[in-house]
Amino acid sequence: MIQFFHVSKKYPGGQAALDEVTFDIPRGQFVFLTGASGAGKTTLLRMIFREEVPTSGQILVNGRNVSAIPRSKIPYLRRTIGVVFQDFRLIARKTIFENVTYLPQVLGVDLQEQKKLAYQALRRVGLAHRLNAFPPELSGGEQQRVAIARALINDPDILIADEPTGNLDPDLSREILRLFLEVNLRGTTVILATHDRDTIQRVGRRVLTLDHGRLANDQELIGTDPPALDPLAAEAPQVPEELIPAPEPPPEETAG
Ligand SMILES: Nc1ncnc2c1ncn2[C@@H]1O[C@H](COP(=O)(O)OP(=O)(O)O)[C@@H](O)[C@H]1O
Ligand SMILES: [Mg+2]
Repeated sequence: MIQFFHVSKKYPGGQAALDEVTFDIPRGQFVFLTGASGAGKTTLLRMIFREEVPTSGQILVNGRNVSAIPRSKIPYLRRTIGVVFQDFRLIARKTIFENVTYLPQVLGVDLQEQKKLAYQALRRVGLAHRLNAFPPELSGGEQQRVAIARALINDPDILIADEPTGNLDPDLSREILRLFLEVNLRGTTVILATHDRDTIQRVGRRVLTLDHGRLANDQELIGTDPPALDPLAAEAPQVPEELIPAPEPPPEETAG
């Protein structure tokens, strides 16, 4: 679903921000993107939604060469990609409803439908009751949840998050991370940039590591802490062992 072939990026006057990066992210995967500050994480993410174009190499998103998309068609690409930033990027003087419905407004969706979409998206992040509040009235963690709702409102195929927990304390980071894992469980491909090795170790999943613009590592990690962060495990009821019925015997083969 997202394929990078020998992608390099040089900003004018700068060194290579990305250097011959090649990888393939299948639909539905959850991927951490990590590396020190300046390693190229933001550059890589911005290329997926065509905020930047590679200096050389090729990027395919859903089989389409992103660099070749005509300017007029870029909004169609962006409709399928939700993006969440470290600094939330909410508009302080607009309500939560107005913030999360930014994209449907631009797309000319009627108000009744906007309300439905906003309610659904905010319910997913547990903030449906704050539709009429303004961002400064919410905590940092709540503001980031609103930003996630805004990214989800169009039911994107891909959710990109650039250090979304960088401004939050560890408890809130866990909560936000859990939301991303839930979104992924419902089928959305998630790419989350973070330099928080602790979180990655706890959660596991696929980890792409950038080092000075090069893809230094592409590994599958088993998390040390899956039950606490795996929403399915968290929801599974604890049934005492004596109440679990014995497995049914296999059905008899019917002759004939
Ligand atoms: N718009 C830009 N213009 C010039 N250089 C940039 C720009 N954006 C990033 N860079 C440089 O590219 C490199 C990678 O930056 P970035 O992608 O932001 O890394 P990260 O997100 O991992 O911190 C850094 O050396 C940074 O200074
Ligand atoms: Mg960055």
